[in-house]
Amino acid sequence: MNTAAPSPLTARSGNPLTGRVRVPGDKSISHRALILGALAVGETRISGLLEGGDVLNTGNAMRMLGARVERRGEGAWTVHGVGVSGFAEPATVLDLGNSGTGCRLVMGAVAGSPILASFDGDASLRKRPMQRVLDPLQRMGTRVMAAAEGGRLPITIQGARDPIPIVYESPVPSAQLKSAVLLAGLAAPGETTVIEAEATRDHTERMLKHFGARIRTEGHGAHGRRITLTGQPELEPAPVMVPADPSSAAFPIVAALLVPGSEVIVEGVMTNPLRAGLLTTLREMGASIETLATRDEGGEEVADLRLRAGGLRGIDVPPERAPTMIDEYPILAVAAAFASGTTRMRGLKELRVKESDRLAGAADMLRVNGVEAEIEGDDLIVQGRGGPVAGGGMVATAMDHRMAMAALIMGLASEKGVAVDDTTFIATSFPTFIPTMRSLGAGFE
Ligand code: S3P
Repeated sequence: MNTAAPSPLTARSGNPLTGRVRVPGDKSISHRALILGALAVGETRISGLLEGGDVLNTGNAMRMLGARVERRGEGAWTVHGVGVSGFAEPATVLDLGNSGTGCRLVMGAVAGSPILASFDGDASLRKRPMQRVLDPLQRMGTRVMAAAEGGRLPITIQGARDPIPIVYESPVPSAQLKSAVLLAGLAAPGETTVIEAEATRDHTERMLKHFGARIRTEGHGAHGRRITLTGQPELEPAPVMVPADPSSAAFPIVAALLVPGSEVIVEGVMTNPLRAGLLTTLREMGASIETLATRDEGGEEVADLRLRAGGLRGIDVPPERAPTMIDEYPILAVAAAFASGTTRMRGLKELRVKESDRLAGAADMLRVNGVEAEIEGDDLIVQGRGGPVAGGGMVATAMDHRMAMAALIMGLASEKGVAVDDTTFIATSFPTFIPTMRSLGAGFE
């Protein structure tokens, strides 16, 4: 994907957005379904799998580790797993492409099998910190045979024959790090515990329970959790129905709120409280978001939402909300640019180590389109225009799917349009983004 020629695009304002859309399956749950399916003995059936580049790379990695992974139809996949500690040594490097989630979770899963495995990714993934995962995995008995400077990809690890259960106090609020430790803990005897000061998305915990593992969660401090997994379970295949991805839904949601006169229904938006920070924030900004119906999809509550365009106001977004909307700050920054008054988004340190530096990237994206934005420490401060932004800028997307989508949504409500240098990476998480937005009336050229 990273060798293809860049594919630029410009978004322009036009008619109001109208209609009804459903976005593809959740990326986090899709990765986990493939990995846990590979660690269970027997056949796991998955429906609604996100068929984006990141998830397909995780599926390939599971194949190279000995699982049988097959596509049966659109979003319908089966995985024949090899059991905890049952991975085979891969013949070649595991290439996780653009995906931090794929890379870190597969590293954790591999750490519990006595095999040698090499990991690599594209230029964006090669810049991202992996030492945070290697540290606890080394404590559990994994050996790091090779790594680039600063604990970066390419990395070769030797999984532990007899992994050691640990109590791990996570130094960063990261569901990927938590998940890597828990997946490695599956192969360890006794209890592996992860303590997080701020609760992060709990899809790994929920799915482990769904596959029959013993796992319990207790509160820890004001915003944290203590998660304890009993190792060496026989994971039993269980059907997984992947709900729609709220991080993808964020784009049509914000577009509908910003393009004057719009009225859009977005179906099946997962409202797991550890993923719903954007909805809370947009409501505080005065957005018209009506819940039409709620139901259970695959063990998660989902809602059909009706969005109506209208004026937003700037607010102060507290730092403890960050883990519940960590991927949504680029699109929130766009919403803030149209709001009246100042929006201050606090505690965004982790944005610097995403697919690109999204803290710097979000500020640049706004500035080149005529919006005042500043970074103060780990905070992003946006001076809202109280109406349409000027636009006219070209946004450098830096191999980052969410920066590309956020910039294009901004263009749909701007005076002069917004261009992005490359849309290629949108396919990692939301391959149908452009047709989905066009079906609502969005103008891309
Ligand atoms: C994810 C966790 C988050 C998020 C990423 C998906 C996951 O990363 O940004 O898109 O599926 O666990 P961190 O764990 O690094 O915060």
